[in-house]
Amino acid sequence: MEQHATQQESSSGAAGMASATGKLGIMMPGMGSVATTFIAGVEAIRRGIAKPVGSMAQMGTLEQADGSAPRIREAVPLAALEDLVFTGWDIFGGNLYEAARTAHVLDRDQLDAIRPFLESIEPLPAAFDKRYVKRLEPTHTKTGRNKCDLASQVRNDIAEFKSRTDRQVMIWTGSTEIFLTEKPMHQSLAAFEKGLVDDDEDIAPSMLYAWACLKEGIPFINGAPNLTCDIPALRDLSQQAGAPIAGKDFKTGQTFLKTVLAPALKVRNLGLHGWYSTNILGNRDGEVLDDPDNFKTKEESKLGVLEAILRPDEDPDLYRDFYHKVRINYYPPRGDNKEGWDNIDLFGWLGYPMQLKVDFLCRDSILAAPLVLDLCLFMDLAARTPGLRHTGVQEWLSFYFKAPDVAAQGASPEHDLFRQAELLKATLRRAMQT
Ligand SMILES: NC(=O)c1ccc[n+]([C@@H]2O[C@H](COP(=O)([O-])OP(=O)(O)OC[C@H]3O[C@@H](n4cnc5c(N)ncnc54)[C@H](O)[C@@H]3O)[C@@H](O)[C@H]2O)c1
Repeated sequence: MEQHATQQESSSGAAGMASATGKLGIMMPGMGSVATTFIAGVEAIRRGIAKPVGSMAQMGTLEQADGSAPRIREAVPLAALEDLVFTGWDIFGGNLYEAARTAHVLDRDQLDAIRPFLESIEPLPAAFDKRYVKRLEPTHTKTGRNKCDLASQVRNDIAEFKSRTDRQVMIWTGSTEIFLTEKPMHQSLAAFEKGLVDDDEDIAPSMLYAWACLKEGIPFINGAPNLTCDIPALRDLSQQAGAPIAGKDFKTGQTFLKTVLAPALKVRNLGLHGWYSTNILGNRDGEVLDDPDNFKTKEESKLGVLEAILRPDEDPDLYRDFYHKVRINYYPPRGDNKEGWDNIDLFGWLGYPMQLKVDFLCRDSILAAPLVLDLCLFMDLAARTPGLRHTGVQEWLSFYFKAPDVAAQGASPEHDLFRQAELLKATLRRAMQT
């Protein structure tokens, strides 16, 4: 992974970053809690009634060799918030004011202050198949002869949005789909495109959006743990089309803290017997994840982190056979206000055991929204930067993901939050040497 990161960093200093002026269109398959919290938040910030808390792109600094530390938004040419325009798709109709009310994340007063703006955005009918998200009953979907037809309809939607905006990015904020593994059909673009015509069951709806988006030369980000664009066919398409990709699964609550605490144990050479993580949440995401096939996708995404940071192969005395369990429990009374508990059984000098307990009373979509903003702005930057545009997977954005996609198959991603932040800022600095 470090090898690839370095390749991306060093190649990003090539000639001619394109300007950030003009309208940046943001397309969101899935306009539920995260999407509405993000869009309403951007509008509230634009009107000066809220601050972009949690956004590195807006509030973070870019430390320089001379000791200065300008804001990233001042040091790097990112799209202005005033220039963001939104569209998306959902399996439920209605406008975004109604969707935000259903999500129950933001206060009604705050939503009412921007109500006409939210009412002006209505999700387009979705490309959906209930086999991949079993707990939802759709009311607002496309119909087509086969998956190729559905993907072409999404392409038409994109083409229409392109005519109203100057540049675009797409970010999957749709539900978590059932667990899929790579199949031969995913290995090449030709096989994948044949699979679209053949209605191959290993092509999930999220892949239809990703394919349509990349075919249009537009960057694609995956905020869920689905396989989606993490297959050779779409990685190749991304490189060919000069449309960067990044994923997967926003690193918001429990995994965010795990990737801070695990490096702390590792650097102090403290051992680990077990790490038990459990959550309660009651939003629609929690309802979808209540199905075992959908939970399996999330579980896989959450489990990889500790092994990669602690490296039991390197430090067997400290980390051999530690037990790692992750649970998510759907508990409607909590809505979006998730509670995540971690019980960590660690050991110190001479093997004496200790315990650490974390109880994070967080808000899922409040943590996710600024990540969506940063990812859209940075992926647009990547698409405008010659040395990044054709590199496919943007590993320098691993900071934002629970299970970062990597460019080389089988390579292991960086999970340590602070190393990820360093990589991100180093890439921004190189891009600025353009
Ligand atoms: N909130 C977080 O902290 C967080 C963290 C990591 C990942 N995620 C992931 O982000 C995604 C969105 O989370 P959320 O809380 O907004 O969930 P949500 O259920 O509120 O919203 C998801 C929306 O996607 C729609 N949808 C499902 N399939 C679709 C399709 N094929 N096309 C168009 N729309 C479709 C659903 O109708 C729903 O409105 C989920 O996959 C979740 O696992 C969220």
